[in-house]
Amino acid sequence: MDRSGIFAGDDPFAIARSWLAEAEPLEPNDANAIALATVDGTGLPNVRMVLLKDIEPAGFVFYTNYTSRKGQEIEASGKAAFVLHWKSLRRQIRVRGLTSREEGPQADEYYASRSLKSRLGAWASRQSQPLSSRTALMAEVAKVTASKGTNPPRPAFWGGVRITPLEIEFWADGAFRLHDRFRWERSTPEEGWKIERLNP
Ligand SMILES: Cc1cc2nc3c(=O)[nH]c(=O)nc-3n(C[C@H](O)[C@H](O)[C@H](O)COP(=O)(O)O)c2cc1C
Repeated sequence: MDRSGIFAGDDPFAIARSWLAEAEPLEPNDANAIALATVDGTGLPNVRMVLLKDIEPAGFVFYTNYTSRKGQEIEASGKAAFVLHWKSLRRQIRVRGLTSREEGPQADEYYASRSLKSRLGAWASRQSQPLSSRTALMAEVAKVTASKGTNPPRPAFWGGVRITPLEIEFWADGAFRLHDRFRWERSTPEEGWKIERLNP
C-alpha cells in the first residue's frame, strides 16, 4: 500500500500527535478541539466540542464533569467517537472507541495545572443541569471560593475520559475531491491494526 508522507508509520497515535503539532501554529484557537459524539439510551446521537488534552501511547484523553449529559451517556454506553478537523491543514482525524475514566494521579495533576478560577469553576458548575440565572452560578462560585480555599482538591465528579480506539481514520484533502483516506481498524484493543486505503 502506498502509505507514504503524512500517512506513514506504524503507530497511529504518533501520526495523530504529528498532525496536531503541525496544526497548532496554524489554527487561530484550540487546535486540539474535538467534536465528541456520544449516544443516548434511545440511540439518538449527541455531539459537542471538548479539548483533547493527551494523545497517549494507546489512548486519547479529555476532561469533563462525569455527571454531565456526555458523562452519563459515556457511562451508560462505554463508547464514544470524535473528529478533529483542521481548516488550516484541510485534514481530519476520526476516532471511534471504548471509554474509561482517568480519575487517578494523572487527573489530579491536570486539575492542579489549571488556573484557580477554573478549578473552582469545576466545583461550582453542575454541568448540563438547568441553571436559574448567571447570578445563581456566580453565587455558587463565591460559595466554593469561600469553602474550598486556594488549593481545592479535584472534585470526584470531574476528571478524564480515555478513548481507546477501535478505529482511527486519517483524511487529507486531495485535488478535485479525490481525498486520501486511511482507516486503521481492530475489533479489540489487544489486536493489531488492519490498515486500508478507502475511497474518498
Ligand atoms: C472549543 C470548546 C472547547 C470545550 N472544551 C470542553 C472540555 O474540554 N470539557 C468539557 O466538559 N466541555 C467543554 N466544552 C463545552 C462543551 O462543548 C459542552 O457545552 C459541555 O461539556 C456540556 O456538554 P453535555 O451537556 O453534552 O455534557 C467546550 C466547548 C467548546 C466550544
